[in-house]
Order: sequence, then C-alpha cells, then structure tokens
Amino acid sequence: MASTDSQIDHAASLKYWNSVPATPGSMLGEFPSVSRIDLQGSKNFLAKVRRLIPGVSSEGKFKQGVDGGAGVGRVTEGFLSHVCEVVDAVEPIAKFTQVMQDSQLKKDGVIGTIYTRGLESWVPDKKYDLIWVQWCVGHLTDSQLVDYTVRCRNALTHDGLMVVKENLSTQTSGQDMYDPEDSSVTRTDAKFRKIFDAAGMEVIKAELQKGFPKNFNLMPVQSYALRPKATSTE
Ligand SMILES: C[S@@+](CC[C@H](N)C(=O)[O-])C[C@H]1O[C@@H](n2cnc3c(N)ncnc32)[C@H](O)[C@@H]1O
Repeated sequence: MASTDSQIDHAASLKYWNSVPATPGSMLGEFPSVSRIDLQGSKNFLAKVRRLIPGVSSEGKFKQGVDGGAGVGRVTEGFLSHVCEVVDAVEPIAKFTQVMQDSQLKKDGVIGTIYTRGLESWVPDKKYDLIWVQWCVGHLTDSQLVDYTVRCRNALTHDGLMVVKENLSTQTSGQDMYDPEDSSVTRTDAKFRKIFDAAGMEVIKAELQKGFPKNFNLMPVQSYALRPKATSTE
C-alpha cells in the first residue's frame, strides 16, 4: 500500500494557500480565535524548555530565530518577536511574505531575512538559536521532513533549539491522515518521533496544547522541543 505522504502534491498545496486571504485568521482555517490560546501555550512551553537546557539562561531574548512555514507572520508577530531579537521567515506563498515585508516589524529590523520558498528547498545559511516550525510540516513528505530537520540540526547554535508544533493524527488505527483540501498529511506521534530520530534529533520535551474550546473539536496539537542527539565518540 502506498504511504500516506506519497499523496502530497506541492502544486495543489500552493494552489490552496494562494486561494486563501492573506490574514492571520486565515492561517487557522475556521478557528481564528484559537490563536491567542496557541500563542500563550507556545510561550509557556518555551519557558519550560529553556530551563531544561544546561547553560541556557531562562531569561532574555534569543539573538536569532526563524519561523518556518510562517504564513503572514502570525507566530512571528504574536510570539517569536517577543522572545527573539531578530526573526527570519520561510514561507512559499508570495502574498503572505509580502505582508511580512510591509510590516512595522520588518521596518524595525525585528523581522530579518524573508525567504519566499518551501521548507523542502530552504538551506539555512546562518546559525539559529531558535527554529520554530508550526502547522506546516504536513506539506512535506516524510523524507523531506527528515532532510529538513537534518538541515535545521546543522543550523542550530551550540545551545540552539528547534520546536515543531503540529496537529496529531486521530485515526484509531494509528495511521497518518491525508487531507485533500490543502494536500497535507497529519502525522501520528509515533511517526514524528521516528522522523526526528532519523534526523539525529532528541525530543527533550513534548507537550499537548491545552485550553482549546472543547466544542471546536480540534485535533490534538503537540509541541516537540528538539536538540541534536549527543554523538558517541567511541
Ligand atoms: C496553517 S498555515 C500556518 C502558518 C503559520 N505557521 C501559523 O501558525 O500561523 C500553513 C502554512 O504552511 C505554508 N506552506 C505550504 N506549503 C509549504 C511548504 N512546502 N513549506 C513551508 N510552508 C508551506 C502555507 O503557505 C501556510 O502559510
């Protein structure tokens, strides 16, 4: 049987996202009000994770961050710009990156370099203290996600951190789920962990987002904090 991710069609994803208005609410489908809860959850998660990394101050801003699959910059504006001095952005839809390009944060130098491209073809050319990737890796195939995570691992500063925050599959048979609307895959927790392991990353903390209204029937959303696995010198 063909794997779920083999159904991903990048052209169909780009067509879908190009048809969506370039507004923060559109990034969350029918549930724009979840944004505030999501951003607060991210802030809390990051604060907990920072305490787990030896040598990293749990206070103060990271110097350089990047928002992967940034959309119009909802996460950059509402969260990353508060915890990083400069935030780069990677996003394939030009009308979305234009919103960031025209923003006050860009004028103020808080938004740094904007890369209008998909994560599968983004090769970092600098080091990052924080790589945040949210609600977009379902557009990458499993092998593209492994390769992307490897590139991110190599682009982290010594104490740097990568966070992947994504929906989890609710299929009772434990399968990834394909969504034809935007041609994306929603993965199981087991699949995410397998991919991170294959990319040489250790999950130092994983946590489900709490507080979304029950009547919205949203999928579970999990944050994974990743650090390069310690390599044996033996
Ligand atoms: C649900 S929105 C999330 C945007 C943002 N991360 C947020 O949380 O507000 C999904 C985003 O993934 C982007 N996307 C689609 N294909 C992508 C790809 N191959 N690489 C990176 N991002 C992609 C879409 O254009 C869209 O901006």
